[in-house]
Amino acid sequence: MKNIDSFGHVRGESLFVDDINTNHGTLYGLAFDSPKAHGIIKNVDYSKAKNLNGVIKIFTYKDILGENQIGGIIPDEPLWAENEVHFIGQPIAFIVAESEAIAKKARALITIKIEEKPVITTAKEAKEKGEFINAPRSFKLGDTTTSFKNCEYVIEGETFSNGQEHLYLETQGCYAIPMENGNIKITSSTQGPTSVQKTVAKVLGIAMHKIEVDVIRLGGGFGGKEDQATPWAVMAAVAVQYLKKPVKYILSRQDDLRMTGKRHPYESTFKIGISKDLKIQAYEVEFLQNSGAAADLSPAIAERTLFHATNSYFIPNVTTTVHSCRTNLPPNTAFRGFGGPQGMFVIEAAIAQVAEKLGIDKKIIQEVNLLHENDEFSYGQIATQVEIKNSWTSAKNKFNLDKLESEITHFNNSNTQFKKGISLMPITFGISFTNTPMNHARALVHIYQDGSVGISTGAVEMGQSVNTKMLQIASQTLGIASSKVKLETTNTTRVANTSPTAASATADLNGKAVLQACNTLIERLTNVAATMLSIDKSAVSFKNETVFINGEKSNLNWEKVVEQAMLERVSLTENAHYTTPIIHFDKTKEKGHPFAYHVYGTAITIVTLDCLRGTYETDAVKIIHDFGNSMNIGIDKGQVEGGLVQGIGWMTLEEISYNNEGKLLSNALSTYKVPDVFSAPKSIEIIPLETTGTKMAILKSKAVGEPPLMYGIGAYFAIQNAIKKFNPNYNLKFNAPFTPEKVLIGLYEK
Ligand code: MTE
Ligand code: HPA
Ligand code: MOS
Repeated sequence: MKNIDSFGHVRGESLFVDDINTNHGTLYGLAFDSPKAHGIIKNVDYSKAKNLNGVIKIFTYKDILGENQIGGIIPDEPLWAENEVHFIGQPIAFIVAESEAIAKKARALITIKIEEKPVITTAKEAKEKGEFINAPRSFKLGDTTTSFKNCEYVIEGETFSNGQEHLYLETQGCYAIPMENGNIKITSSTQGPTSVQKTVAKVLGIAMHKIEVDVIRLGGGFGGKEDQATPWAVMAAVAVQYLKKPVKYILSRQDDLRMTGKRHPYESTFKIGISKDLKIQAYEVEFLQNSGAAADLSPAIAERTLFHATNSYFIPNVTTTVHSCRTNLPPNTAFRGFGGPQGMFVIEAAIAQVAEKLGIDKKIIQEVNLLHENDEFSYGQIATQVEIKNSWTSAKNKFNLDKLESEITHFNNSNTQFKKGISLMPITFGISFTNTPMNHARALVHIYQDGSVGISTGAVEMGQSVNTKMLQIASQTLGIASSKVKLETTNTTRVANTSPTAASATADLNGKAVLQACNTLIERLTNVAATMLSIDKSAVSFKNETVFINGEKSNLNWEKVVEQAMLERVSLTENAHYTTPIIHFDKTKEKGHPFAYHVYGTAITIVTLDCLRGTYETDAVKIIHDFGNSMNIGIDKGQVEGGLVQGIGWMTLEEISYNNEGKLLSNALSTYKVPDVFSAPKSIEIIPLETTGTKMAILKSKAVGEPPLMYGIGAYFAIQNAIKKFNPNYNLKFNAPFTPEKVLIGLYEK
């Protein structure tokens, strides 16, 4: 089945926040933000801006009736700065005017005096100065200290992976309108409608029930709207509370780039020890996470880095530590993979370094150390239904790795200017919010009296096609055509207290709730149909909008049963609640079983370098991916392709750059390069791994949103491999992204 939005998207008919018809009298908001990365606000002169014709009011923290606080995990982030600013782009005030153009003009008229304080832009510097978001976290398995003594080879090294801009096509934005009795309705482009509702209520000093948040769909989120869609909605709501007029605020691309956080850059140091038989015996790593100026989701992201620090390998002795370092950058935030990719890059670097020292192929060490059934992760979970070796071997066989490698060797022997490189990248990614209490969802299903169906869940559609999956589950369970089912907007009055659409778990959590609700409804209708046909209910089933008796078609159809249910006053509505069983985690011990299951896969990446220019092309990525038993292979392959290309972008082209004053230099699409059709792989081949799936996944169809991003890490090592072919003296460096400049330097270093 196709994504149900595709028709509307290509015709430009799908609605996003900026497309909603505005009410009469709508006003337009715009944040005034700090031009300095750190300092004391000495004076802000709003007088000229206030006097501009068409400016209605300029809001500051003084206008807040509740708390000036939007921090989710840690209350360390004001909505509007009071006396001190901590990053360029930090909101200080909110201009509300009759038009966007007037608001913009007004913003240019505001002058500010800031007494500057020292600016920290790197995690290392923050650590040296003792600037942390919270206490460090550490996972331990076995005993690394003793184990290193018994290792044949012990190697140390360091890595850096840079941030990444989400670059959702739809920028952040919201539209807030006053309702009666001080209630406010907000349409927001958020992954977390409940966090918007909760934070608005807190800042406005009113109850959550007075705030309704509605989400139609997002033009992409990628984690960037899990926490950071909230401030704009809160600003608009503060203005609505005061002015009692609708307020719209859509960020311009440049404002969005400057003011929002990105993937966390990580600086890491590792020590890895292996035995003569190439088994990794011990691994120690210290991650320095560049968290930015406030916590945002950093502590949860840091935690997931630890969960994925050993990627797809079993290592008996592990000590991992992460420090969330406070810097003067916009608070960094969730981004596809949620800290996992940063952790996996380091172990892949460590293995590459070991292989280099021993003068052997990296993949030999990778293969020897792949996880087996019943191996223990550093966080105590026992690996079950492990498919990593299966995916690895399938990749080698199905894509004929030997042949690929001999072709590459032949190419490299017969070319001087161009060199090819290859890598294998295994992935193992845990599915569930690492914070166990967040793993719940609800679905509200109405069968209308004409037999059509409306479904509300907590899931937010952001291009990943979760709505299509929900619709498939309902139409399949109820035995009706997909055209009879409609997915409603995600709305806090219909489905409350939701977790954000994140952690790749949305289809599992909300899908299981939809399934449960539909099963309950079909049970009721089965009773009605059995009475109508005067047969036992065990004989009744629903298929193709028809009642079947012991598998034989009857004359009774779906509409008639629904009509009769109405007459008999049987409820045609069901609200189901699902929570993931089994999972738990004890933070005091850092042990438990946090994941419902893991997703596995292996990617083979082949690149060609132009050794004169340092440029490169990804020739092919060949993937064996564990979809479980995919419920929609077209959509799921789309997620693998999108995730892969986004991961390659992070590892190769996309270079976030701040200067020492904390100013974003890569502040436009002319200076920040995401993969386009020319830099995406020339071919992507995806073969589903044949497995039985897991009952923990919806219809045994495994979560697919984030794991494929980490295949992109393979591109880094394929490029490295190719450089080595040109310049055997090249010293391995682990400094992502591997931009053409860095490649060129590597090609010619002595
Ligand atoms: N795919 C598209 N097209 N757009 C997105 O914003 N977000 C990714 C992934 N795939 C995203 C996407 C992220 S970060 C996550 S966590 C998952 O989708 C969330 O959706 P799911 O839980 O339904 O997989
Ligand atoms: N993944 C993604 N988003 C989250 C998580 C997680 O594990 N925890 C909280 N938000
Ligand atoms: Mo995804 S980073 O969990 O929104």
